[in-house]
Parts: sequence; structure tokens; C-alpha cells
Amino acid sequence: MNEKNILPREEVAAQEVYTLRLRQENDAYATETGRRRKAFVLTFGCQQNEADSEKLAGMSLSMGYVLTQTPDDADLILVNTCAIREHAEQKALSIIGQYKHLKAKNPSLLIGVCGCMVTQEHRKDDIKHRYPYVDFVFGTSSLHRLPQLICQKIEHGKRVFCPEESEYLVAEGLPIHSESSYRAWVSIMYGCNNFCSYCIVPYVRGRERSREMGEIVREVSELVNNGYRDITLLGQNVNSYGKDSGYPYDFADLLCELDKIEGDFLLRFMTSHPKDASRKLIDVMAASKHVAHQFHLPMQSGSDPILRAMNRHYDTTKYLDTVNYMREKMPDVTLTSDIIVGFPGESEEDFEATLAMLERVRFDMLYSFIYSPRKGTPAAEKEDQIPPAVKSARFERLLATQNAIALEKNQPLVQKTLRVLCDGVSKNNPALYAGRTEGNKIAFFEGTPDDTGKYVDFLVERADAFALYGKKI
Ligand code: SAH
Ligand code: SF4
Ligand code: F3S
Repeated sequence: MNEKNILPREEVAAQEVYTLRLRQENDAYATETGRRRKAFVLTFGCQQNEADSEKLAGMSLSMGYVLTQTPDDADLILVNTCAIREHAEQKALSIIGQYKHLKAKNPSLLIGVCGCMVTQEHRKDDIKHRYPYVDFVFGTSSLHRLPQLICQKIEHGKRVFCPEESEYLVAEGLPIHSESSYRAWVSIMYGCNNFCSYCIVPYVRGRERSREMGEIVREVSELVNNGYRDITLLGQNVNSYGKDSGYPYDFADLLCELDKIEGDFLLRFMTSHPKDASRKLIDVMAASKHVAHQFHLPMQSGSDPILRAMNRHYDTTKYLDTVNYMREKMPDVTLTSDIIVGFPGESEEDFEATLAMLERVRFDMLYSFIYSPRKGTPAAEKEDQIPPAVKSARFERLLATQNAIALEKNQPLVQKTLRVLCDGVSKNNPALYAGRTEGNKIAFFEGTPDDTGKYVDFLVERADAFALYGKKI
């Protein structure tokens, strides 16, 4: 076994001392007051952050807190931040700003800020100077240190700014608390080696490191045994799984192994980088029993010069080749993508090449983003930045093009019966229940509380660009 990227077990175990100390403290408080201290975890950003927050929640429970859905009556607030775009950072900072009055009301409230945003030194400084009521700050390499940081703050009274580890290592064995009893995230690797020229992730998540296959198989088997139905494997570039640690297996091998687990469940994964989305992986998916025929393959741009400037290491020909092979092997595959508009130097011609690729590939759904310069990345230093008005206008055109395509992709599903995993009453549409198809499309129907967490057979009666509407049969 190669343990190169794994945090020594003793380091995780060392946190147990702090966990126990806090647990006793919190138990004593509960006995004395008849009230348990409450922890509130707020998450920004991607599924990787959601998965990390499940560990923050798990650790909080182990320390003797109960979880609450609102910051108002919390004794511990943890804000897990994202740095991918300026907007994500501003939203987090604004919410942290609002917690000032909570601290004024309850001086014993503890506020911790963690995650990608505060893994950047300049943002750590912002918190230090502009948000003096934040008690402790820790980056993505120190997630497992939460119990220690709380103890330090309580015992010494001083604010704690946890230095980043020089190496980002995988901490196995942290407790996980999931809100859902049927959908789960499983991180299979952390970090990124790709340094796309616009992206902050490699700077705030460190280099790639993969978990050992045995650990992942054990975790997924346990989830399936506990009734989980939909499991998403997470990593910034799952297709390089295993390479960093020199494991003798790759991502396709891992999927093959997980596919052997018995039970009624679907496996998904994200994200795949087009430069290494292999035919072997597509073959494994096509032949599998449990892997959903759904592929998220971020294209970013449909212009070859822009792809080069983005440091993506593929061109549109290679991208189309992968898509064609995938559709040949899995004609029913749902294909989604990410696009950035307004990358520095993007000309009208480059942008039109992206629109032309959308028409050619015909994605089921697109996550589109306006380019946001990230401090410390090469693209942010470029002089040919695109004016905001041009970026917004292109963004609108992109949406209009994609909405028409998505509608055309969804229409043929009308009158088809699909299997849908029900998520309960829809948040946006409380008169209806919502669920997800195998292709991860949203389905709305009239359901009952009993349907939540179960598969239902769903007859599609109507489709728009964003969702399917129909009935349970
Ligand atoms: N590792 C994944 C994606 C991580 S970030 C991948 O390689 O696909 C999710 C998406 O955010 C990216 O695919 C990209 O489209 C977008 N993104 C990343 N940096 C951005 C930036 N600086 N401005 C705008 N969008 C960005
Ligand atoms: Fe960012 Fe590129 Fe890594 Fe994705 S592959 S996380 S876009 S650097
Ligand atoms: Fe954001 Fe960090 Fe994810 S920057 S998108 S939370 S990896």
C-alpha cells in the first residue's frame, strides 16, 4: 500500500483528545442548563465543499453539539467558503459581516471561517483585520484540526489563525454527518494539478492526492448497506485518480470495483477533464450495472486558441471525438458542461466558435460562468481583459442559445417513463414533489411523503428547458 499522500493516523487520532474534552464540557453544560449547545454549518461552493461540511458537521456532533439550521440560536458557527469567483467570496464576506450582531448578543458564540477563500493569505488577512469577532480561521489542509482550534480558542482566549500545512494530506476516518439518508458524496481524491490559467483551485486545494481504493470501496459498500441510492464520487479531475500515488489502478478500475457492490443504487462522478476522459472509462460505464449514463465534461470554450490560453491541453477536435465515442457506446447518455465567457482576449470570433460548438455537441444542460479574475492566477494578469458589458452581453447570448437546445433535448422525453429518485417536496415549487432521473434531470410530480428517498416510475407529460413535469405511475 502506498501511503505517500495519507495523513498519519496518529494525527487524526490526536484530535480525539480535544474532541473528548469538548464533549465533556458540552455534556456538563447540557446537564446544568437543560439545553444542548448548537452548531450551524454554512457552505459555499462546490460538492467538494459540501462533502467537507459533512465532516465539519460530523466532528461537531462528536464534540457534543447538536446541529441547527439557523445561525440565530447557534453557539458555534462554521462558514465553509469558496474562492472560485469574486461573487462567491463577496457573498461569504457579507454573511460573515451579518454575524457581528449575533456575537454582540451572545459573546460566548464561537465563529470559525474555513475553506478555499481563507486558504488565500490575503483573505486570511481580511478576516484578521476587518472581522475581529471571527474566532478562528483554518484552510482546506487543516479541516481535521477543528476540535483543536476550538479548544485553543476557549482555553487561551486568543483568536487562532491556523497556518496552512506545507503538504495537503488525506485525513481518513473523520466522522461524516449527511443530511440525506439516500444521496451521498464520496471524495475519492483531493486537489488539482492542472493549473488552468483562470482557476484558483490548485492554489487553495493543493496537489492531487487519491484515497486508497480499499477505503473507497468500504465507504461506498457501507452507504449502500445503509440504504443510500445515489452516490457521487468527487474529485477535481477524477480521471487522474490513482496517478499521484502511483497506485496500480486508475479511475476506470475503481468504477469497475465499485460496480460489483450489490444493491439498488446509482454511481455518478464529477468532474472529468476532457484531456484525460479515456475510452476505457467510457467502456466501463457502458458495460456497468450501477454507473449512471450521465457525463459532466467541462468544455470551457469552443475556441482552440482560447483553450490553449486556458492551459486546458485539449482542442475541440479531441473534445468532439470523446463525445462521439461516448454517444456511440451510450446513446442515452446525458451530457452536461461548464463554459466560461469573457476569458481575457476572447474575441467575437472566439465567442461565436463557442456558440457553434454548443450547436454541434448539444448539451443537455450547461453551467455558464462569466470570467472572474482570481488573484495569483496567470489569466488575471493578462492585459486584454474583456469589459463587463461585453461579458454580460455574451453571457445572455450563450444562455439563449443553450435554452433552445435544452428544450429540444428534453422534448423527446415526453411520454417516456423514467425512474426517478424522489427528493420530497420541491423547495421552489411546494405544490409538487421533485426528484432526479438517471441523467440527473429534475422531475416534478404529485407525490406523497412516503415517496421521499425512493425510486418512483415517472411518466413525462411535459418538458421545458430546465425540467420534466409528469405523474407517478
Ligand atoms: N475541476 C473542475 C471544475 C472546478 S470549478 C473542472 O476542471 O472542470 C467549476 C467551474 O467553475 C469550472 O469548470 C469553470 O467553468 C468555472 N470557473 C473556474 N474558475 C473560474 C473563474 N475564474 N471565473 C469564472 N468561472 C470559473
Ligand atoms: Fe480548476 Fe482546471 Fe483544476 Fe478544474 S482542472 S479545478 S478548472 S485548475
Ligand atoms: Fe470553490 Fe473550493 Fe470548490 S474554490 S468551487 S469550494 S474547490
